Amino acid sequence: MKSVPALRSIRLAGERPAADGMLTDVLRGLAAKPKRLPSKYLYDARGSELFERICEQPEYYLTRTELAIMRESIGGIADALGPDVRLVEYGSGSGLKTRLLLGSLTTPAAYVPVEISRVALLASVARLARAFPHIEMLPVCADFTRPFALPRVSRAPRRTVVYFPGSTLGNFEADEALRLLRQMRAEAGQHGGVLFGIDLVKDRATLEAAYNDAAGVTAGFTLNLLARLNRELGADFDLAAFRHRARWHPLAERIETDIVSARAQDVHIDGHTFHFDGGEPMRVEVSCKYTPDGFARMAARAGLRVAGAWTDPARQFSVQWLRVV
Ligand code: AVI
Repeated sequence: MKSVPALRSIRLAGERPAADGMLTDVLRGLAAKPKRLPSKYLYDARGSELFERICEQPEYYLTRTELAIMRESIGGIADALGPDVRLVEYGSGSGLKTRLLLGSLTTPAAYVPVEISRVALLASVARLARAFPHIEMLPVCADFTRPFALPRVSRAPRRTVVYFPGSTLGNFEADEALRLLRQMRAEAGQHGGVLFGIDLVKDRATLEAAYNDAAGVTAGFTLNLLARLNRELGADFDLAAFRHRARWHPLAERIETDIVSARAQDVHIDGHTFHFDGGEPMRVEVSCKYTPDGFARMAARAGLRVAGAWTDPARQFSVQWLRVV
C-alpha cells in the first residue's frame, strides 16, 4: 500500500471523494428490478443527525449495549490489542467507544480515522486531539470501502488494528462484507488485527422494534433519502406517498428496510421517468445480524481468526477481536 508523508498537525490525507456518482447510482438503482438505492446515501447532514437520534431511541439497543460491553470489558480488550497500536478506524470515530479505547490502550502509536465526510472527520478528530494531545492524529478523507493510502506514523507501531464498531459491517451484502474483511486484513497486515462491534441474531420482536421505533425517527431517517434526492438531484418524489418498512428475514438473518410506494405513481429524475406500482418496495438498507459461529466462519474466509469475544449478559451484541492468520 502506498504511503503519504507523516502529518504533524491535524491535516487531512486523501482526496475529496467524487460527489457526482450519486446520479449514476440512483438512476441505475431505480432501473433495477426490484428497485434499490445505495444505503450510503442515507447519510447527508440531516440523515446523520437522524441516525444520532436513532441511537438514543429506547428500542435501538445496539449503541448503548455496545458501549456497555466496552465499558465493562475495556481492560481485557486493551490487553488483547496490546501496546503501541496504530488504530485505524473505519468511520469518523465521533463516539464514546473510540474515546474509551484511546484512553485505555497502552501508548498508542497513532489514531487514523477514515471517513468520507470531511466535515464529520475534522470535527471528530479536533475533539479527540483535545482529549488525547499525546496521540498522533492522522485523519484520512476517503471512502473506506475502496483501497486507500494509510499515512505513515512518526513512531513505529507494534501492530495495526482496524476498528469497525457499531455493527456497520451488517449494512453490507454478504459478498461486499467479505471483500471488506479481506481489505481490512490486508490493511492490518502481519501481526495486526481487526476489532469489530457486531449485532447478534435474536428474536423478531426485538429486532423489528429496533428498526421501527415508536417515535418514528427511523422512518424519518429512511424517507429523508427521498428528500435528499429531490433536493440534490431535482427528483420529484412525493414524500407523503411513500412509507418506511423494516422487516426481519430469518433465513437471510437480516433486517431488510424498504421504502414502499403507497400508490401507483411516476417519479422523474434528470429526464428519466420511473414507474412505481402501488405497494412496490424499493430496498434501501440491509442490517445483517450474526451468530458467533457464522461470524467466525465468514472471518476465516477472509484470513482472520477470532482471538477474543465480549458480550452483554443478554447476549444481544458482541465485540470481537480478530487476528490476522
Ligand atoms: C449504521 N448501522 C449499523 C445502522 C443499523 O443498525 O443498521 C443504521 C440504521 N438504520 C436504521 N437504523 C439504524
